[in-house]
Amino acid sequence: MRIAVVGTGYVGLVSGVCFSEFGVEVSCVDTDAAKIARLERGEMPIYEPGLAGLVAANVAAGRLSFTTALGPAVNGAEAVFIAVGTPSRRGDGHADLGHVFAAAEAIARALAEAGNPGRYTVVVTKSTVPVGTGRQVAAILSRCCPSGRFDVVSNPEFLREGSAIEDFMRPDRVVIGAESDRARAVMRQLYRPLYLIETPMLFTGIETAELIKYAANAFLATKITFINEIADLCEPLGADVQDVARGIGLDGRIGGKFLHAGPGFGGSCFPKDCRALVRTAHEAVAALTIVETVLAGNEARKARMAEKIIAALGGSVAGKTLAVLGLTFKPNTDDMREAPSLAILPRLIAAGATIRAFDPAGVAEAKKLLPELIYCPDAYTAIAGADALVLLTEWNEFRALDLARVARLLKRPLVVDLRNIYRPAEMEAAGLSYVSVGRPVRPAPQSL
Ligand SMILES: NC(=O)c1ccc[n+]([C@@H]2O[C@H](COP(=O)([O-])OP(=O)(O)OC[C@H]3O[C@@H](n4cnc5c(N)ncnc54)[C@H](O)[C@@H]3O)[C@@H](O)[C@H]2O)c1
Repeated sequence: MRIAVVGTGYVGLVSGVCFSEFGVEVSCVDTDAAKIARLERGEMPIYEPGLAGLVAANVAAGRLSFTTALGPAVNGAEAVFIAVGTPSRRGDGHADLGHVFAAAEAIARALAEAGNPGRYTVVVTKSTVPVGTGRQVAAILSRCCPSGRFDVVSNPEFLREGSAIEDFMRPDRVVIGAESDRARAVMRQLYRPLYLIETPMLFTGIETAELIKYAANAFLATKITFINEIADLCEPLGADVQDVARGIGLDGRIGGKFLHAGPGFGGSCFPKDCRALVRTAHEAVAALTIVETVLAGNEARKARMAEKIIAALGGSVAGKTLAVLGLTFKPNTDDMREAPSLAILPRLIAAGATIRAFDPAGVAEAKKLLPELIYCPDAYTAIAGADALVLLTEWNEFRALDLARVARLLKRPLVVDLRNIYRPAEMEAAGLSYVSVGRPVRPAPQSL
């Protein structure tokens, strides 16, 4: 089989290389010439574990290629995936479909120019798009290439950055919204290797598939926000949110995942997808008050985290230096989109703090968005001489810090851990005051 993937970002690149690993011939297209040039040189434009090796192997096998030329890529492809970005539209929070529609139009025009009347192509939206977008894409295709024969399919992607390849290769399920047997057959053929490992395949209508993606993200965002609010309740009550999360998560009806209290969710998907779903509900005159509350609560929480840090330092950070470890919205990615650091750190700087920061993969992106930070080459350099250590993202390397060294390097023995990656007793044993989320505050032994 031959396919094209239009949009070579986190989703397009991972989907492209994974389909290629399945044995399909894949051409990845992007309008960003610099990105394509880097990929052609074998450099990855994003940080994603395992990606570089898989790309190199599939390029070497002759099944994966990168191009800015959409025409040759889509001509002769049995399926063309649209995997371009759908950011929040400025002002109203709806998904901006400009890139999706531009891609659909470019695909249709390329097929029309190739002059192959009657050729059948499945056009698949992999981008997260509001309900109704599939129909709009179909309308663009028939308008711009009246002689073409298309089926539009919605195949939302559920991969997580940081474990994207594993998620694509071993997904919990594949959702396919399609309306013809022919389109379903093409999709079945593409995902054949997943049938062999008994991955559930859910065939639905197009609108339903589009909504499944938003409902999934909104539910996960709700779960995070729920445990965050329970964490806030734990603090005045003297309860421990880790134990509460375990206690409820062991109930099979609830499940233990996404019950980690923290600074609030960020990233390229949850905030924007919740906003878009709320807009969709408004337009449909349907109540979606839970998701509206989740969004408002999450935004307020990020701001409150700055207050929490300031309170831990005795009510003022003016003239203080904070060591911040972790800037990306989660570990194992360089993605800074809507990262909590973007909401928290400018507030600390405005309150007079100097920030010495380190992140294992996010520094290049972070420098563009947070130019006022002092970037350090490693965790201990950031910590040396600081008034406190703030843990913002739970990268594995921050889970195993040499706590005795941390205590020696800090000017004051204070750690604010917004990800709860340490046990309070360990911190106490290392002589560190420890402020975390939803757990009793543990002062250092000497300050008792
Ligand atoms: N990032 C994730 O974890 C994730 C997970 C699931 C779903 N999604 C969804 O997948 C979609 C893509 O997300 P992403 O994070 O990969 O975005 P991204 O910004 O990393 O990548 C999008 C790419 O599309 C390219 N592009 C834009 N317009 C184009 C056009 N007309 N023709 C060709 N290329 C074009 C851009 O240059 C960019 O390289 C979004 O709808 C997102 O919501 C993302």
